[in-house]
Amino acid sequence: MKTLIRNISSLVTVDTKGKNYKSGKDLNNISEIKSGAILFDSKILWIGSDSEVESLNEKGLTWDIVVDGTGKTVMPGFVDSHTHIVFSGDRSDEFAKRLRGATYQEIAESGGGIQSTVRATRSASVEELYNNGLRLAINAIAHGTTSFEIKSGYSLNLEGELKQLQAIALMKKNLNVNIKSTFLGAHDFPIEYKNNPDDYVDYLCDVMLPKVAESGLADYCDAFVDKGYYTVEQGKKILETAKKYGMSVRLHADELADVGAGKLAADTGCVSADHLLFVSDDSLLAMKNSGTVACLLPGTAYFIRMPYANARKIIDMGLITAIATDTNPGSCFTENMQLILSLATINMRMTAEEAIAAATINGAYSLGISDITGSLEPGKDADIVIYECKTYSDIMYHFGINHVSRVYIKGQIFNNNN
Ligand code: NIG
Ligand code: FE
Repeated sequence: MKTLIRNISSLVTVDTKGKNYKSGKDLNNISEIKSGAILFDSKILWIGSDSEVESLNEKGLTWDIVVDGTGKTVMPGFVDSHTHIVFSGDRSDEFAKRLRGATYQEIAESGGGIQSTVRATRSASVEELYNNGLRLAINAIAHGTTSFEIKSGYSLNLEGELKQLQAIALMKKNLNVNIKSTFLGAHDFPIEYKNNPDDYVDYLCDVMLPKVAESGLADYCDAFVDKGYYTVEQGKKILETAKKYGMSVRLHADELADVGAGKLAADTGCVSADHLLFVSDDSLLAMKNSGTVACLLPGTAYFIRMPYANARKIIDMGLITAIATDTNPGSCFTENMQLILSLATINMRMTAEEAIAAATINGAYSLGISDITGSLEPGKDADIVIYECKTYSDIMYHFGINHVSRVYIKGQIFNNNN
């Protein structure tokens, strides 16, 4: 089935000319075609100006359905390259406490925070975890996301982490979207190892990682290297061991304080270092030289009232910069990438164009899927979103509402009642 969307008021392709990521000034080049058209089946077949449509038949290109894009914006689906959507329970009570003045860290220190979700997740079945994750993923897709990274990390023992990874595997199987899975056994220290954290690192490296690698359920390994969580030394051991077992690595880095985690990510060949609220210039330089993607999560800074990452410096230094949701029940409970664009532009001072490139092609690059998605280029998957607005910046201008009118995943209309 071939579909032609024509007369598109604002067709944003994020064309990379085959480079598959954008950095520096090129982040502003998102290749908008005014009055554009796009032809696709499961793959994108042709993109151009509407005035060229009449000559397509002569070139042997045909279609079965025509969709009118008048007054609409069409863009590549968002690639949400950092989420924790597979978990159980909720933390609305903690949210209420935070509104009364408690900080995220105070709540964590008193046994809440990640530990509270760990208690709920450990006692949930794979099916429950799958259903919870599916509900959030469907919501995210309805807001324009067509590719995800999903982390484990709310069990902190072998059995539970594998259970989370199995739930993610079920999502991979049953949803038509791209999903990459990440083992985050080093999200926090389990309560059983509270007084001997190094023993947990040994257990993670000697017992958990080999089994997780053997299961084939995780595409990446991640760790939370930060103040009060894993040290650089512990993180290094975990990442190096993961690599030994053939896994690629990414990192939660310098979210709560500068501990040199950005540099650790660069030195260990992490594909991305995420958060970076307090990252040092040294770390940024190392990340630039190693090609490590800087993944910024403005929803988290907003939700736990922290200073935003210095996106201007990071972009202007030339790092490959992505933005993502960090959807999780504690520090950022939204799966809406349009809202993340709004926060990135208003509060991190990114341009609308930079935010869109960071939320699409660069997220895809960090997940190793930018050859098939993240931009609208002939030959790539038809992961296409139609927005009910005349130009792309309206998504950020008219903020806090859902502008999506239709999502195509690999050329198929996504049905919200799936
Ligand atoms: O990315 N930084 C570490 N982990 C999550 C928070 C998880 C939670 O509070 O449940 C994050 O912000
Ligand atoms: Fe996170």
